[in-house]
Amino acid sequence: AAIDFSVVWSSLDFILYGVITTLKFVAVSIVLGFLLGSLLALMKISKTAPLRWFADAYTSIFRGTPLILQLLIIYFATPQLTDYEISAFLAGVLTFGLNSAAYISEIIRAGISAVDKGQREASLALGIPYSSMMRQIILPQALKNILPALMNEFITLTKESAIIAVIGAMDIMRRAQIVGADTYRYFEPLIIAGLIYYVMVMGLTVLGRKLERRMSRGD
Ligand code: ARG
Repeated sequence: AAIDFSVVWSSLDFILYGVITTLKFVAVSIVLGFLLGSLLALMKISKTAPLRWFADAYTSIFRGTPLILQLLIIYFATPQLTDYEISAFLAGVLTFGLNSAAYISEIIRAGISAVDKGQREASLALGIPYSSMMRQIILPQALKNILPALMNEFITLTKESAIIAVIGAMDIMRRAQIVGADTYRYFEPLIIAGLIYYVMVMGLTVLGRKLERRMSRGD
């Protein structure tokens, strides 16, 4: 038959194992991206011009070139330039972390500048030190602006993570392709993979809505 899911059932657990790889991959990437992105955001709003230039150039480059190109450069250039045989997982996590940092830094920068400037003026008038002002007054309010966009980034990374299959990481996508190659049937395993990604994205969407509702309770 043109469509026959029976051959795929026996490989279902093989594909499902990819969920662990994909989840681990996205979790590590987003943590890396958030840490680096926060640092870049602080550079963007700093008074030191070279720091701002660096952060702006960084963002421009990582957003201005394809993610898959960045991935392939890190995966293939690392062993060539350093003799270090980087794993597909590590190359992927590095690339996604670096790439996401560019997007997250913009999210955080925008979130900070959306906080009413009266908050900053009042802090300055009261003589509150910069770091206390940031940590106790500005950032907690910025977080509310940032959260929805950050959940979007999470979802984007989950979907984009499928490109690490290209360098051989055993994620959902790669496993679906392997089953396709083994059974000469691509439609069925790809549909299964699609369903898995969709469920993951829906899960994140629901989680994001819950978090947002909880955070707006204080308003
Ligand atoms: N497909 C886009 C690219 O190749 C994805 C960029 C990653 N996006 C993100 N929000 N981290 O450039």
